[in-house]
Amino acid sequence: GAAVEVDVSTLAPGEMVTVEWRGKPVWILRRTPEMLQALAQHDAALADPESHKDQQPAYARNAHRSIQPEIFVAVGICTHLGCSPTQVPAGGARGNLGADWDGGFFCPCHGSTFDNAGRVYRNKPAPTNLEIPPHQFLSATRLLIG
Ligand code: FES
Repeated sequence: GAAVEVDVSTLAPGEMVTVEWRGKPVWILRRTPEMLQALAQHDAALADPESHKDQQPAYARNAHRSIQPEIFVAVGICTHLGCSPTQVPAGGARGNLGADWDGGFFCPCHGSTFDNAGRVYRNKPAPTNLEIPPHQFLSATRLLIG
């Protein structure tokens, strides 16, 4: 399949774009310092905080699940039954997400929730964290997916 090139310099902090790669939606999110800080604060609430079970390249096997801490790249397909999770900002009220919600993604089909590194919360139907696709930076601003 064809690789997809994305200019990440146009992404504002907190902004996310979705591109299509091999027929799948791939999210590119520029995380803010607040989003990155939140990632370090809720490990106990996650099913697999260190991502031992899920699919990711070796270069994304770290605390942020990414190459550059601020640029998060993930396949935007729920690992339960394949629905499309939606982005819900910190404090965003949706369903049972309360004011202590750290921000991330909510799957409307069966209620799985993921943080801004695509890590699934405990006791949710999704069995693993979101998939990180193979990707690399061709330069500081040019991201190649695939
Ligand atoms: Fe996402 Fe079931 S498909 S929770």
